[in-house]
Amino acid sequence: MQKKKIIGLSLATSLCMGLAVAQKTFTVKVNEPVAPIQSTMWGVFFEDINFGADGGIYAELVKNRSFEFFKPLMGWSVKRKQEGDILVLSRKEATNNPRFLRLTARNAVKGDLELTNEGFRGMGIKKDLRYDFSFLYRQAAPGITMHLSLINSKGESLGQTVIKPAESGAAWHKQSVSFQSVAADPKAKLYIWLEGTGVIDVDMISLFPGDTWKNRSGGMRGDMVQMLADMKPGFIRFPGGCIVEGVDLANRYQWKKTIGPVEERQLIMNRWNIEFPHKAAPDYFQTFGLGFFEYFQLAEDIGAEPLPILNCGMACQFNTSELVPLEDLDPYVQDALDLIEFANGDVTTQWGKVRASMGHPQPFHLKMLGVGNENWGPQYIERVKVFTKALKAKYPDIKLVNSSGTDPDNERFNYLNGELRSMNADIIDEHYYRSPDWFLSNASRYDSYDRKGSKIFAGEYAAHAKITGGTNNVNSWRTALAEAAFMTGLERNAAVVNMASYAPLFANTDAWQWSPDLIWVNNLQVYGTPDYHVQKLYSLNKGTQVVPLTWEGKALAGQDSLYATAAVDEKTKELIIKIANVSAKAQNNVLALEGVKKTATVADCIVLKGDLESVNSFEKPDNIAPQQSTVAVKNKKVALTLAPYSFTVLKVKL
Ligand code: AHR
Repeated sequence: MQKKKIIGLSLATSLCMGLAVAQKTFTVKVNEPVAPIQSTMWGVFFEDINFGADGGIYAELVKNRSFEFFKPLMGWSVKRKQEGDILVLSRKEATNNPRFLRLTARNAVKGDLELTNEGFRGMGIKKDLRYDFSFLYRQAAPGITMHLSLINSKGESLGQTVIKPAESGAAWHKQSVSFQSVAADPKAKLYIWLEGTGVIDVDMISLFPGDTWKNRSGGMRGDMVQMLADMKPGFIRFPGGCIVEGVDLANRYQWKKTIGPVEERQLIMNRWNIEFPHKAAPDYFQTFGLGFFEYFQLAEDIGAEPLPILNCGMACQFNTSELVPLEDLDPYVQDALDLIEFANGDVTTQWGKVRASMGHPQPFHLKMLGVGNENWGPQYIERVKVFTKALKAKYPDIKLVNSSGTDPDNERFNYLNGELRSMNADIIDEHYYRSPDWFLSNASRYDSYDRKGSKIFAGEYAAHAKITGGTNNVNSWRTALAEAAFMTGLERNAAVVNMASYAPLFANTDAWQWSPDLIWVNNLQVYGTPDYHVQKLYSLNKGTQVVPLTWEGKALAGQDSLYATAAVDEKTKELIIKIANVSAKAQNNVLALEGVKKTATVADCIVLKGDLESVNSFEKPDNIAPQQSTVAVKNKKVALTLAPYSFTVLKVKL
């Protein structure tokens, strides 16, 4: 394989035409489809890492709303007049959410009894937006008034209201109030003070912005979901990632604990809380406000196939390697069977009924399921066999995704790849976090894969300019361009590669553990990295059939630093060509279209280009972003100048 390097910098030229050297002619055989491109080809990988869910897409603004963090008052600061006026207590009855606060007010006035929540690295408050406050309480008799306000760092109010808990008695009640903000602040706090006399127990103190995705109460951040919707992903992998496995088995992701009323979803420590000592996040927990129901709903909303990945009876092998003995695996297998029923079962089935009770009687049409994430060794194969037998017996049409470990090319990979292929695994999940040069050198990786064997899911990948794992890797045009070049090889091999997703998806600039990441957010803003734009261009221009694009009879996979693939879209009647030029020079080429009678005389040309070290940011979100132009098509030929360090998508109407 030819090893190409992305080196040096160059002046940008115009989009599809400009200064150029040496001319080559590429041939595209428009009427010779070689393989279908699956509708699932380009998807997204979602994991609650980098505050991706809690503190991210899950729009809850109150951190530790149920006082269940290891430190019950983490995220809260309290002020009381007398010792004992604020107590942390636990319910006696069995519950997933035992702790609550008991507040005692004695002729309280402002300054006597206060609770302040700091949010997830502050609360992002927008001006003139509705905010929805709710909480659970019980009290012997009404007598307390709660004053709520959003405050900035100077203590000034950004919006406020008053709530009078009205019910009395031993039962818990939920009360809500909405109010309008009058000013914006990226790092606001929620300040509550009590007035009057009485004893009140409080729990699930919650605040959501009024502009959630689809205006769902208790929903997701609209701007973050929009970034996903804009990509039109073919699938959403969920919930990860290592989070599937857990540090130990108790810490694994259990889908059944993530559905039903939010106050009954048992919170657990997020494994990324402790994974990297230099990026410790002691306040990182999973509340599961974004649970499996919300996940299926999200996938449905944005037209993506759901792809859940479930624990296979093995905890993370980088951590404890805790293992469920084979004879005790039944509950794990049952969880997988039940998840399919939850997604697809009729409303008369046990789990279909639960789905219906949550507001979705129609099935979610689940078609794929992953068994294990980055597990390896004979222990994994033994467990996969048990899962496969049970799942295929009941649901023969569900495609199963199996792990090939952590790396694309080591002993673990070779062993698992061999075993899974001999089992005729439906889909094998490959992961590669590698250098940009690795991506360039591996654009032909799948050319030699068996067309008749297991299909490939490039389930997690990203070019890392520095070493992997919690380091400060940057999402530069260098990494994105290397991925764009590599992805020509994924598309060209759509006969075997059926799905691919960059990982991880989201990162909060104030609270990340792992970089690089596709989309960066803070409390109020979102931007897509250059890598995001590459993913989006592939997804929005995927086509339905691969057609041959050759130079001197060979696929273009690194010769003269060029990488290319071609597809036709039978629905839009377009030819779509993607070309990455990873060299510092502009390259002048001719595309000769064969096997087509007529084409439009003008083609659309979408280009990403820039200096290799260019990055996007909140200040310059479009530093690297698609630029659109047109290019002439004459006698079924397109003269195309590829700018230095560029990725071009050319669309010709047939
Ligand atoms: O994407 C970050 C992590 O990388 C995932 O959780 C894990 O599967 C992989 O090692």
